[in-house]
Amino acid sequence: MLGVRVRALDAQRVKRELKESGALDTSKKARREGEFVVFPVLQEVEGFESIETEFDEFEGHKKFRDVLREKLTEEETALAKRAFDVIGDIAIIEVPQELEKHESTIAKALMGAHNNIRSVYKKSGDISGEERVRELKFLAGEDKTETIYKEHGMNLKLDVSTVYFSPRLSAERERILAQTKSGEVVVDLFAGIGPFAILLAKNRDIKVHAIDVNESAFEYLKENIRINKVADKVTPLLGDCREAAPKGEATRVIMNLPKSSSEFLDTAFDVIKEGVINYYAISREEDLYDSKIDFIEKIAKEKGRIIKIMNKKIVRPYAPYTYHIVIDIGVK
Ligand SMILES: C[S@@+](CC[C@H](N)C(=O)[O-])C[C@H]1O[C@@H](n2cnc3c(N)ncnc32)[C@H](O)[C@@H]1O
Repeated sequence: MLGVRVRALDAQRVKRELKESGALDTSKKARREGEFVVFPVLQEVEGFESIETEFDEFEGHKKFRDVLREKLTEEETALAKRAFDVIGDIAIIEVPQELEKHESTIAKALMGAHNNIRSVYKKSGDISGEERVRELKFLAGEDKTETIYKEHGMNLKLDVSTVYFSPRLSAERERILAQTKSGEVVVDLFAGIGPFAILLAKNRDIKVHAIDVNESAFEYLKENIRINKVADKVTPLLGDCREAAPKGEATRVIMNLPKSSSEFLDTAFDVIKEGVINYYAISREEDLYDSKIDFIEKIAKEKGRIIKIMNKKIVRPYAPYTYHIVIDIGVK
């Protein structure tokens, strides 16, 4: 089995990165080796030392596979994807087309193996539309789509069928928190149910304007502001950010609408006074940053702003040869 060996000091951070990039084999347990931790991975990961070694399997995953083996052939069991997203007590799985006839068996096996999962849904379409919502199909357990997800000390209430939310952006949210200083004025142009806005407000003495056009996301945003006791710091705004965002006040603008952020970059320059735009985008492997940076420079020039590219990095894989990336733009 393939593993990557990292210093124990870096283990928590690396684990999150491996998980979000989809490289971590979540069915197996990491192992401590003196000053190092070895993580099980599904493929070689650039920038890390790879080794061949053995890992123990997590009980839940072992049980899941064992139940599948009783019901499916060896080939089908191998095809069933054992990686899935858990949001609160809801699991969202992908079922390969060849296994569709067994989807309810797979979902029940998953519930049987993981006590924390009360409902299982299948991704039955891509994330689409302005509101970035995914079509789901109910497979097993309780047919309820509202849940509470806990992350970094926040409780986030949401309905997985009416809003966008990804647990895979957890490390990215932490990265933005690490950059943010008390005293900032943050405008989250595409706030959703508020994971960035609330995390920053809970941990810094700041003002946040959190905007979303999706009415359901906006209702959960308001509820999450209340649950997390940040009403004195976060102002929720419903509408198109082009109209709803306050102009010329922000020291940070968060633009997590990666598929069409380019259409809103001019708005981001109107919104920011001086500071950083966290600009997300989707890029092909052969041109991760260059054409995006050319575009950013073009819009900055049109807006008469001086910019400096401060960071650029892959957030997570998005599709084959395609990545969700972030570019941090310093603006004067
Ligand atoms: C990819 S989701 C990100 C949500 C949130 N930032 C998160 O990380 O969970 C993008 C969000 O932008 C919202 N959105 C799309 N177009 C918008 C617009 N013109 N103005 C404000 N919000 C918009 C969608 O409704 C959706 O909730």
